[in-house]
Amino acid sequence: MNFIFLGPPGAGKGTLAKEVAKAYSIPHISTGDIFRENIKNGTELGKKAKSIIDAGGLVSDEITIGLVKDRLSKDDVKSGYILDGFPRTIPQAEALATFATIDAAVNFDIEDEAVVERLGGRVCCKECGQMFHVKFNPPKEPGKCDKCGGELYTRDDDKAESIKHRLEVYRQSTAPLIDFYKAKGNLVDVDAKPAPETVLAEFKKKFPN
Ligand code: AP5
Ligand code: MG
Repeated sequence: MNFIFLGPPGAGKGTLAKEVAKAYSIPHISTGDIFRENIKNGTELGKKAKSIIDAGGLVSDEITIGLVKDRLSKDDVKSGYILDGFPRTIPQAEALATFATIDAAVNFDIEDEAVVERLGGRVCCKECGQMFHVKFNPPKEPGKCDKCGGELYTRDDDKAESIKHRLEVYRQSTAPLIDFYKAKGNLVDVDAKPAPETVLAEFKKKFPN
């Protein structure tokens, strides 16, 4: 199946996507991860995107649509995929409809207080991108990734000001996609408040493999 993961920053999209990708053997395509990889490697795209992302704004539709179109032309998406963090605007969703067929837009249902707490405590691995949370999912050894031993860091856009701005941008530009996909008849709500294992179990029940 071809999934879109839709929801506010910090809702747990990336955390669930990693598990779903494993369980359903489909690629996890996160536009945020692609941008961060480009920033890390100092590419032209990374240079353009860095200040926008750090401040919590959105990279242009033109750049982001081109990136996803290119990614969906690869062979590994033939048996399905998860688009995590794309589309994020109505023009992105309209463009996507011209080159992809989406089976389900999974809407992560969670309130602002919870996402602020999740983002405020998130740490990520510099090497493999694995996410941890200092309270909800702490690494065995502080500052070190359980999976690969890489160094853990706090994303620049997880600073308080940037989190606030991302939530505003979400409300203004991304939340309208809920009605967009509802009108298409493929919006599926998932309760994102419980622990990750519970969210995954609910997902599996809604989408039997
Ligand atoms: P992106 O990387 O997509 O960031 P985001 O949408 O802000 O979402 P996050 O990655 O912050 O949160 P998440 O929902 O993945 O939560 P996570 O699983 O990490 O995008 C970054 C930036 O790139 C954007 O701001 C924009 O500038 C740009 N960009 C990307 N896509 C774009 C597009 N389409 N158009 C334009 N610009 C674009 O979980 C968060 C924390 O909570 C973790 O610490 C985790 O361990 C913990 N946690 C997760 N689930 C649970 C749970 N169930 N219970 C308790 N804790 C949990
Ligand atoms: Mg994410």
